[in-house]
Amino acid sequence: MNRRRHVWWLGLVTAVAGVLPACGRADPHVLTFAGSAVGREAEIIRRQLERFQAANPGVTVELRPTPDAADQRHQLYVQWLNARAPDPDVLQIDVVWTPEFAAAGWILNLDPFGPATEEFFPAAIDANRWNRSLYALPWFIDVGMLYWRTDLMSEAPRDLEALGRQAIRARDHAGVPYGFVWQGARYEGLVTVFLEHLGAYGGQILDADGRVVVDSGAGVKALTYMRDAIDVDRFVPPAVLTWQEEQVRFAFQDGQAAFMRNWPYAYALLEESPDSRVAGRFAVAPMPAAEGGVGTAALGGSELAINAYSGDPATAYLLIDYLLGEEQMLERARLIGQYPSRPAMFDTPALADALPVRRDDARRVIERAVPRPVTPVYSQLSEILQVALHRALTQQQEPDAALREAATAMQALLQRVRLAPSGS
Ligand code: GLC
Repeated sequence: MNRRRHVWWLGLVTAVAGVLPACGRADPHVLTFAGSAVGREAEIIRRQLERFQAANPGVTVELRPTPDAADQRHQLYVQWLNARAPDPDVLQIDVVWTPEFAAAGWILNLDPFGPATEEFFPAAIDANRWNRSLYALPWFIDVGMLYWRTDLMSEAPRDLEALGRQAIRARDHAGVPYGFVWQGARYEGLVTVFLEHLGAYGGQILDADGRVVVDSGAGVKALTYMRDAIDVDRFVPPAVLTWQEEQVRFAFQDGQAAFMRNWPYAYALLEESPDSRVAGRFAVAPMPAAEGGVGTAALGGSELAINAYSGDPATAYLLIDYLLGEEQMLERARLIGQYPSRPAMFDTPALADALPVRRDDARRVIERAVPRPVTPVYSQLSEILQVALHRALTQQQEPDAALREAATAMQALLQRVRLAPSGS
């Protein structure tokens, strides 16, 4: 934050919350923070909250851990926020939830706090705007990456066809039972894996005008590739159809797979877990392309937002501002491999030391990452798509029919809530 904003902002805190110890007010400020406890995230946030409290005497922050699975966390937040409960004051939210929570009036417009939006990746800021106002700030950026085994092959696959060939070779010659593992359970993670295959073939979920185009030729090719790969004789194990991030990581960490699609968080765990069988034997690369498309990473990540019913928004923003500080982001990068949301940090040697991948490669993947549709009905669109994708992958329906039905239902939903582009 620049100095002028900082001064303005401290003034606001003093006036609204009386939080500074100097003003002698006795009322304690108790904030609640709801966030993820996946991997080592709980340990890090505890440590950072302690530092924040030490720097802000008079403020106490309680941590509320939330479920690992994105969809379950979403459900819990909807229950809390819909009940207009004043806590949690600060929420770690998924990048795809901001418009929904903003349109429902559940999270605060952050513009009055004067955040330095230009200091963050523009795509992440855009995903946090609704009706031109900003409702959350990006905390860390997730991008889908291809993890590959350096002891089984000498280079990452050039395209999806080569990936299949290399995976089969690893199974036949090196005895690695699973070729390629990804998040195939019926939940949000599956949509991100599909988005990456879709981009690889040149497709999109919505086009630039907001029309549903997920059932295009590219969409059908992408889903057919995914479905056909799933077979004990091919290179994606049927077990992925029930797996989320952590099950996928465990399979790769156990040395069972030649390739894995996952977020950056997995890197440090694979390298450092005492029971990892692949430490020092893997690398990451961008997800490969197929014919007609480009290598695509889904844009994911977590944002920080303030509950609209919080009794203490000024102190809540003080906490957000602290967690978004470079020092905190650097610590997250160093300990859990998460990518900072501040592009300027990618020019610093400190980040080069902290990140396990080359910072320029990371920045390039982030800058080209593809967002999921930015709309308040994203969760409903995603739900429709998840059902269709899973039906096709479990061979209950052909990919073209599944996508056609999903597209019709998605279009009908957008029309019902008057978010469909005119003429569609
Ligand atoms: C990660 C991403 C998030 C995504 C989720 C899907 O948490 O950061 O954006 O929705 O995975 O499982």
